[in-house]
Amino acid sequence: MKLVLPDTLILPPDTRLGRGVSLQLLTLCESFGYKGCLVCGHSQVRSGNLDRIQKGGSGNADVRVWLHPGDEPTLAHLEDLLALLRQHEPDWVAAIGGGSVLDVAKAAAGLHGAPLPVSAYHDGESIPPSPTAFIAVPTTAGTGSEATMVSVLTNADTGVKKSIRHPSFMARLILLDPDLLETCSPNVLAASGMDALTQAVESYCSIGASWLTDMLSLEALGNIHKSLEKAYHGDGGAFTELMTGSFLAGIALSNARLGLVHGLAHPLGARFHMPHGLVCAVCLPPVLEFNKDAIPEKYAHMSDVVGEDLLGYVWSLSGRMQLENPFTGKTLRDPESVVEEVLASGSTKANPRQVTEEAVRRILRSLFGEEQTP
Ligand SMILES: [Fe+2]
Repeated sequence: MKLVLPDTLILPPDTRLGRGVSLQLLTLCESFGYKGCLVCGHSQVRSGNLDRIQKGGSGNADVRVWLHPGDEPTLAHLEDLLALLRQHEPDWVAAIGGGSVLDVAKAAAGLHGAPLPVSAYHDGESIPPSPTAFIAVPTTAGTGSEATMVSVLTNADTGVKKSIRHPSFMARLILLDPDLLETCSPNVLAASGMDALTQAVESYCSIGASWLTDMLSLEALGNIHKSLEKAYHGDGGAFTELMTGSFLAGIALSNARLGLVHGLAHPLGARFHMPHGLVCAVCLPPVLEFNKDAIPEKYAHMSDVVGEDLLGYVWSLSGRMQLENPFTGKTLRDPESVVEEVLASGSTKANPRQVTEEAVRRILRSLFGEEQTP
């Protein structure tokens, strides 16, 4: 019997969408307490977004700022932010940024007060509930991180990139401000948009999908299909639809899980330090090829939504947005451990067709070239 709802349904409690809504951030955060922490990247300082947002409050709040140094989020970033939280003891942590910034801030708010070292939680220790509110203001569309209780972090000592999750990681307030996409370059819009598209597809095809998440995934796919290329070409009128699609895909994946593309993207992303969305974009076609016969009805529905064969659409869209295979000419030094990590991934386990070692090897060969045969 097809599930109507997932076993556990976790939804963000308060989401506001509109141009300029991020300027209300500090005013809205006052309902969580007067001590807060703003987390963002240097690009938000350069663009003036942080300054505009800081001017929006009443001035009564005691707010500290932590700047994410850039690159993929690591446990070291998390520890650094947690040190500030222990010193300042805020009531809330608000992140303004892309997936990396949101994931570090989300985990910091969620682990604020937790007794063990962060690596223990990354290794699977159960996470205690946190009283510190997390508020998400995404500036890309996107990872959907604003809508999930998941934080993807890399342990730089071991090279392991994986997700940690807890219901208290869910944002208590989400501000979706399409104006914030104005500062994204076309390359960032393309790569992050392909992540959102992949997440819509994988959550729809996941073995954890339900009637509810199917509705969200298909709506997300439709929104992204209608807006991504326009946004890439600088049409700001498409930003609201793109941001909405990314957000819906985030809710869908949080409640349905993903699939083999994300099972591949984490170990490959950790080794090659490439934009997650770009890795998803190049892994999606071979994974769709692998899955399509196992999900004929769903594949046909998705092709209906995009108005053509889904696989052909994904190839041509990536080409039109200049997304080239970043693994060409690269060497995968430890294919056996990549295969092992892919097979152990929770995303891979949610893939609609059972994934074998041979299937992973075949996909890696298609990404890196035949001489990389593990
Ligand atoms: Fe993703």
